[in-house]
Amino acid sequence: MAKPAEPAEPAQSAALAGKHLMLGMTGGIACYKIAELTRLLTKAGATVQIAMTEAATQFITPVTMQALSGRPVYTSQWDARIGNNMAHIDLSREAQAIVIAPASADFLAKLAHGMADDLLSTLCLARECELLVVPAMNRQMWSNSATQRNVAQLRADGVHVLGPDSGAQACGEVGDGRMLEPHATFEAIASFFQPKVLAGRRVLITAGPTFEPIDPVRGITNRSSGKMGFALARAAQQAGADVRLVAGPVSLPTPWGVVREDVETAQQMYDAVVQSANDCDVFIAVAAVADWRVDQASSQKIKKTAERGAPSLSFVENPDILATIAALPSPPYCVGFAAESGELETHGEEKRLRKKLPLLIGNLGPQTFGRNDNEVVLFDNNGLTRMPRMDKDALAATLVREIARRLPDTSLIS
Ligand code: C5P
Repeated sequence: MAKPAEPAEPAQSAALAGKHLMLGMTGGIACYKIAELTRLLTKAGATVQIAMTEAATQFITPVTMQALSGRPVYTSQWDARIGNNMAHIDLSREAQAIVIAPASADFLAKLAHGMADDLLSTLCLARECELLVVPAMNRQMWSNSATQRNVAQLRADGVHVLGPDSGAQACGEVGDGRMLEPHATFEAIASFFQPKVLAGRRVLITAGPTFEPIDPVRGITNRSSGKMGFALARAAQQAGADVRLVAGPVSLPTPWGVVREDVETAQQMYDAVVQSANDCDVFIAVAAVADWRVDQASSQKIKKTAERGAPSLSFVENPDILATIAALPSPPYCVGFAAESGELETHGEEKRLRKKLPLLIGNLGPQTFGRNDNEVVLFDNNGLTRMPRMDKDALAATLVREIARRLPDTSLIS
């Protein structure tokens, strides 16, 4: 057998570990979300230096933000704690990125025009690092042509605009302008720091179980939480890919920046995948698809009667989504998953060859269902590679890199 491929360096469990961020808060009710965002960032190992505008301090106190970030909070350009009175230079230079969250309409306008009349706007103007803004405002303020002009100018200047979200607003109105939720903001910031090994690639992923109805209230399904597939979708997006996720019935939030399509049955998953297969470069089939469906599911609830006893069901085979895509005349790079209950090494390679896949990722299913960590083996033309046990997010980032380095024409990958 050929020499097994050297595994890529294990990915850092969090792209934010060791990063130093300047988190600038401007005035808006969404300031309350920054308490949770700060907690998420510091938990991921980032250091967070907070600066607040005068208006932001009306919504949440610097004392709260200091307690959460574990660092003194700056609100004034004339803060005597900075020895040389150069807070705008010192704070700006230390940061690997500046994140303005929430970014008010007023602050976006100031940034777009290069104004520098308080600490936060001055340190943005003095920056040498990337600037990310997370807008939060009333829907009319967001859609106002002045704001839209300012946002377009900021984008043209290379500023990264995260959001806004759509939905109910603090003022009682509904529409665009709401700040991204803390988790989505966190993911967007983490995404910004990931190496873009899948830049320009379109990735299609299936995740979760399928559900095959017996009647309108009963059905059969497979054991799958969807966590691994969703983690891969998140990691691929963070690596710069355009990601489409076809998800069976799971209750997991959509990773930031990922386009999601929900399906229920294997046939629906098959239809959704076939429709997108020609528009993707990589197909990763993580879903635990039911191999069989009930032949002619009842449209009415099957009644339990003493005379009839237990019903007998007959099954028909579902289409094999992965094998279908791998057999296309010019298929995307196809990656399969196999959850086995034993003899993984034999079954994994046998499955890879049967489905004609360049790469198959195998694990011992019953030991991983619903857990947050996983231990997998990679099967490809060079043999097998064992990966250490990792949490599913870290494993997903590692697998994305393993996939990226196997793709044809890697010269395109930065
Ligand atoms: O044959 P088995 O179900 O063990 O193969 C697992 C792999 O095939 C997974 O990647 C799964 O998503 C995919 N699969 C599929 N369609 C099916 C059955 C499995 O895409 N009907």
